[in-house]
Amino acid sequence: MISTATETSTGLAPGALTPSQLEQFRKDGYLILHGFFDPAPILARARDVIQSFDPAAHPLTKFVTGSDDDSTKENEEHVGNAYFLESGDSIRFFLEEGAVDPKTGQLNRQPDLAVNKAGHALHVLDRTFYDLSFSDKVQNLVRSLESFTEPRTLQSMIICKQPSIGGAVPPHNDSTFLYTDPPSATGLWFALEDCTKTNGCLSFLPGSHRWPLDSHQQGNEQRPKEDRDVKENYGVPRGVNKRFVRKEPTNTSAGTTFEELSVSEEDAWRDNEARVEECKAGTLVLIHGSVLHKSEKNLSDRSRYIYTFHAIEGDESKAKYDEKNWLQPTKATPFSKLYNPPPAPAPAA
Ligand code: FE2
Repeated sequence: MISTATETSTGLAPGALTPSQLEQFRKDGYLILHGFFDPAPILARARDVIQSFDPAAHPLTKFVTGSDDDSTKENEEHVGNAYFLESGDSIRFFLEEGAVDPKTGQLNRQPDLAVNKAGHALHVLDRTFYDLSFSDKVQNLVRSLESFTEPRTLQSMIICKQPSIGGAVPPHNDSTFLYTDPPSATGLWFALEDCTKTNGCLSFLPGSHRWPLDSHQQGNEQRPKEDRDVKENYGVPRGVNKRFVRKEPTNTSAGTTFEELSVSEEDAWRDNEARVEECKAGTLVLIHGSVLHKSEKNLSDRSRYIYTFHAIEGDESKAKYDEKNWLQPTKATPFSKLYNPPPAPAPAA
């Protein structure tokens, strides 16, 4: 459950998990690494990025509900869909649900307090997030998981969880959103501010990445690949129930939907088994792609800034990234090699 970065003072490369940390991660499906990084400069840069949000250049502020003109609404929806689905090589801004006045289509608060998240190419376009994402510590950490041949970095974002309106995220597992065959996604989640019960910290169902424990219930779904001895010691990893996909793979205006995959992969949240994981700024949370987790609405008067990105297996002989996934690599921004990153962007002026 709780591990500390100081445990790595045993001759391991900086950032690498100790055997007991790796065991904990395999058992629980997540790992809390306190004091993994210095949060102050990352938070400062994250705030600068969010401050740069310009509502005048944003499609959703043009959206006015109650219009009689359906074709206008439809058009605006298409613009919003493309803005999201084409954000893989940009830094774009997505708003909190309660931040736009439905009558006027205007923000009902100052712009930097309206942003839910910014993404999804911070790791290649912004020097601060590049330096963190491809740092030796992060590379050593991912290597020590012993689960990737050629990890790729993708879907980087700042999530703000704004005071009083920061929305809840319902129980889910991340491979639903970044599906590879077999599943390989692992999340790296950096707390830039203290995460508490009142501002929407993460909760996990420990071990839910290995349901069902009864092998007779296992269907034919694709499950994350693991060495046989890992499976024998910890249980077979769970597949995914559904996928978050593009309605039309090559048409970014068409939007997204959930595609049901399996009814036999249990995904029920159980409050009595859940662990609420408060953590301090500077904590890195490692999240297995099959573990169920969620966060509550931010009811406090303090934001909950975090930075996160995912790693997937990039060796296509091991796992294949699916063309229906919402996020697709582009020529300009292929998914970056974590161990052999692209050239660094210039530092922010
Ligand atoms: Fe998640």
